[in-house]
Amino acid sequence: VASSVLELGGVKISKQDVVRDEPTNNVPDLIFTKLGLQLHRRDNHPLGILKNAIYEYFDTNYNNQFHKFDDLCPIVTIKENFDDVLVPADHVSRSFNDTYYIDAGTVLRCHTSAHQADLLRKGYANFLVTGDVYRRDSIDSTHYPVFHQMEGVRVFNPSDWNDSGMDGTLYAANDLKACLEGLARHLFGAVEMRWVDSYFPFTNPSFELEIYFQEKWLEVLGCGVMEQEILNRGGKTDNVAWAFGLGLERLAMVLFDIPDIRLFWSTDKRFVSQFTKGQLGIKFKPFSKYPPCYKDVSFWINDSFSENNLCEIVRGIAGDLAEEVQLIDNFTNKKGMTSHCYRITYRSMERSLTDEEINELQWNVRDQVQSQLNVVMR
Ligand code: PHE
Repeated sequence: VASSVLELGGVKISKQDVVRDEPTNNVPDLIFTKLGLQLHRRDNHPLGILKNAIYEYFDTNYNNQFHKFDDLCPIVTIKENFDDVLVPADHVSRSFNDTYYIDAGTVLRCHTSAHQADLLRKGYANFLVTGDVYRRDSIDSTHYPVFHQMEGVRVFNPSDWNDSGMDGTLYAANDLKACLEGLARHLFGAVEMRWVDSYFPFTNPSFELEIYFQEKWLEVLGCGVMEQEILNRGGKTDNVAWAFGLGLERLAMVLFDIPDIRLFWSTDKRFVSQFTKGQLGIKFKPFSKYPPCYKDVSFWINDSFSENNLCEIVRGIAGDLAEEVQLIDNFTNKKGMTSHCYRITYRSMERSLTDEEINELQWNVRDQVQSQLNVVMR
């Protein structure tokens, strides 16, 4: 993969276009290897099965009015990813710590909302955008630096809400909640769900839908009434719209009983052979779990320390063998120095790991933590 030229949404991309040796680039090799895999376009993969089931809901309930995009290039400008959807200049999501930058003006999209404004400008009023999205993040069973989202947008005309006695915003908010509750029932049947008020720069009001799973409330989608400014800039001053963005992995983990987000990337037959095109209800039967191996690393942090940077190092060395990175001890001494101890869980879902290979991984982690994060080991 590493040397080949990828075709992403009709654009030809080589590794040097993405992983560059310059200070404004923070895309590691591992991320490059995920580009172009497009798990959401495989009809036999849980993410493809889920995407198709959502398509089916929109096709039947909205008479095929939603345009479907699932092959838009994940390399976008910071204008598309942030400015066009009104993300403030100082918002954390723009930081080098949270987003993969290819250069100062180009990123790997961190959400499918990056395509909202462009598609509105092109005249689409009802659309679904599915794609891989990229975020620097922590390491645990529900977080992976590449995941998949589906964006939905629906634009209303004054004639849609005029007779309702509601203003456009309330009308759109009601329609949005009814649509997404219907979608949740279509996918889950009876499931416990709740709406939580939220904030997004591009919607107002904003909501999150949560689903009860494994004794926890799991956030599965964000949504709201689109900020009028986005519509105005697209020349739609009289219209009102709603938008949602849902995480396909989160939903698929619940629907298929998939316990670890890394499994979506597995090519192990024992995983892939369990899923069939069009079959949403299938419950994944875990193959025997191999034993985990825990290794701790402790160091004095400095002001620029970030957990995401640590996780990127662990991921770069251990790849999918890294199951979790967890802060287990944190204290500040009398001199004001702060110490962190992290427990790294190594585990393969496919085989037993040997002591030698784990020790080797851990030594590399210690080495790179020390040299790249400028911390003092303990
Ligand atoms: N883009 C948001 C996210 O990634 C989700 C979202 C999309 C929220 C559209 C509101 C409207 O978290």
